[in-house]
Amino acid sequence: MKILILGAGGFIGVNLTERLLREGIHKITAVDIEKDKLQEVGVFDDPRLRYLHLDIRKDNDTLEQETKDHDLVIDLVALANPALYVTDPLGVFKLNFTENLKIVEYCVKHEKRIIQFSTCEVYGMTAASVVGKDPGEMPCPFIEDETPMIMGPIKNHRWIYACAKQLLERVLHAYGLQYDLKYTVIRPFNFIGPRIDYLPSEKAGNPRVFSHFMNALLYGTPMRLVDGGKAYRAYTIIDDAVDCMVRIIENPDGVCDKQIFNIGTPENEITIKEMAYLMRDIFDENFRQDGDPFPEIISVPSEEFYGKGYEDCDRRIADITKATELLGWKPTHDLRSVIYKTMEYFVDQHRAKQRRHETASAPSPATEAVSAPVRKRRLGEEVPSR
Ligand code: NAD
Ligand code: UGA
Repeated sequence: MKILILGAGGFIGVNLTERLLREGIHKITAVDIEKDKLQEVGVFDDPRLRYLHLDIRKDNDTLEQETKDHDLVIDLVALANPALYVTDPLGVFKLNFTENLKIVEYCVKHEKRIIQFSTCEVYGMTAASVVGKDPGEMPCPFIEDETPMIMGPIKNHRWIYACAKQLLERVLHAYGLQYDLKYTVIRPFNFIGPRIDYLPSEKAGNPRVFSHFMNALLYGTPMRLVDGGKAYRAYTIIDDAVDCMVRIIENPDGVCDKQIFNIGTPENEITIKEMAYLMRDIFDENFRQDGDPFPEIISVPSEEFYGKGYEDCDRRIADITKATELLGWKPTHDLRSVIYKTMEYFVDQHRAKQRRHETASAPSPATEAVSAPVRKRRLGEEVPSR
């Protein structure tokens, strides 16, 4: 197939593009306004890859022509950090709904299949939270074609992201009904792994939680628990997620047409507070070097961290029966290894940066030998299991 990946330079996009190129079956056109991560994984030499620097908001003619020229469109473009839902709700709506709708309509017009990235946030909050119960007390797996979607009042504009994604899903469904559009919706449940976001001490912004906690471990900023860190999340390593995406792309016998898939790892559930402590432990056991900071763990009110209009998703567990039954997919990484693998990436990047810095300011090459050790883990040592 000729596959058009929009948002290929982002966290999921770069991991997916790398994997598809490694398999060597399809030709990829990678569209994004950023290319650093694609460069980092070294895919630009691959003759099956074409990179197109394109802002999907601006060049409609090119975007439509590209849609027409490909067999499959994978749309990952979105603003996907909760801090932005609070500070720029209109930007979130316009990119995540209006601009993405345009792509859907090009697919309808040119009869192309589309894989649309949505979010687990479309489910909103759990029923338990609405009736004032601790969400941990009630089982609440979210099921694609059954679970109702519960969101807070309009003044809590965090939900504009989830509503925009949900409305796009509903429009896709309607185009499926009335125009026979072949679409597949993917609802990711907290993927993490190499190349997710950035460290806020190195780049301005407010990324997702893993990057904040890594920043604390590497730069000594506090690990801040929003409203005490009582919310639950269940993390999936990007490799497992990409494995499911590849099956969706292959679409055996059309089983993914007009389907919505949760992709998540229900067993990997943890509260954010527990995750802060676990990340600090895993860092100490495997990566700590002399001189590394030992961050404190503190609680901050959500209004102070995000501003007015934030409301949290209390708990989200994916029911993955559909992906297992239709695609034979199951995630394979437990929580410790998910955290370990993601942490390893950040630590390696950071140590390499430190070494470059030391080498640049060193009086002689001897300095490089002194700064060479990368991490404390002993060779051959197992990744600790949960
Ligand atoms: P990301 O921010 O890393 O990637 C998005 C990419 O879109 C970026 O590379 C960005 O440069 C690009 N982009 C933004 N505006 C653009 C524009 N105008 N034109 C062209 N490119 C543009 O996000 P991600 O984590 O890779 O998420 C990808 C998709 O999956 C998003 O739709 C997101 O809502 C959804 N999602 C991700 C997760 C997760 O666990 N990472 C969870 C739920 C949903
Ligand atoms: C995010 C985004 O909405 C989307 O990328 C996506 O839809 C979803 O993740 C996903 O990955 O599935 P969320 O999980 O709320 O949603 O994003 P994070 O910023 O990672 O926050 C997770 C939890 O940690 C929240 O409870 C948040 O309040 C908390 N948090 C965040 C902290 O306690 N401390 C921090 O420093 C940052």
